Amino acid sequence: MNTHNGTLSVRVTRIETLTPEIKRFTFVDPDGKHLPAFSGGSHVVVVMQDGDKTHRNAYSLMGSPYDSSAYQIAVRRVEDGRGGSRHLHEAVTEGALLQILQPANLFPLAKHARQHVFIAGGVGITPVYSQMEELHTKQASFELHLAVRGPEHTALGLELQARYGARVHLYVQGQDERMDIRGILAERPLGSHVYVCGPDSMIDDTVDSAHALGWTDSHIHFERFTEQGSTGQPFSVTLARQGVTIDVPPDQSLLEAAEQAGYKVPYLCRGGACGYCETEVLDLDGELDHRDDWLSDEDKLSQRKFMPCVSRASCSRLVVDL
Ligand code: FES
Repeated sequence: MNTHNGTLSVRVTRIETLTPEIKRFTFVDPDGKHLPAFSGGSHVVVVMQDGDKTHRNAYSLMGSPYDSSAYQIAVRRVEDGRGGSRHLHEAVTEGALLQILQPANLFPLAKHARQHVFIAGGVGITPVYSQMEELHTKQASFELHLAVRGPEHTALGLELQARYGARVHLYVQGQDERMDIRGILAERPLGSHVYVCGPDSMIDDTVDSAHALGWTDSHIHFERFTEQGSTGQPFSVTLARQGVTIDVPPDQSLLEAAEQAGYKVPYLCRGGACGYCETEVLDLDGELDHRDDWLSDEDKLSQRKFMPCVSRASCSRLVVDL
């Protein structure tokens, strides 16, 4: 296996256009060896050099967890994003080499669920893809309810319908009835688990419906689309352990600025969701601009904790424990 600075080298062997916005990329080891194993719901971070910018974007692995000969990711092109998805769509061609980090799983399956109910919207189908494959191999009971914005966005849903038949319910906007999340959950047997990935409104609707029906949090799983990195006013930050002060420019997060300066900060999701990058604030003269979903309201108010992957500051002095 080709490893370099903790990253794996992979070769892009296939790029498919699935919808007007989504392309699927297939990667293999350049020497034909096996790639590291992963479990359903895992993601990899793709590291891309784009001129003087380095993009590090996390994408769910879509293939079968039981097939280590190749990885697949689906990338939705985000026009007004920070450039990583545009780079993959425009500059990466079949045959290219890419660097990725080892798979990590922030959206694992519940092992003892009686029934797995997946609710997804648009590109939110991607983490669910490998989960369903894992359950199919284990002959576990599952169903998918997938909403898409129109007939031109159905490629992945149709692919899954061909594979899993009536267990896949597709709701095409303008063509089918709206997905009734509460109705779906109301009929599920005791011991079911629900997994939702899609727009915030879909996640909120699922969580609220499940709570209203008496489901406990341990049976409700969600993964938000997280905007990776952040933009905003520039600020300076002192990394106490390194004994340096670095500038965080308007188009980078603290994590990205620290990486560019050659310092390692732990991370997994790069989107304020997983908690891996959490650091202590040792000194502050100003205000923190918390943009994560990880810290509690209490922690945010205390101004003592900070998530370098997304959060920013408006301050004359900030010292963190990095
Ligand atoms: S890397 Fe996941 S919260 Fe920062």
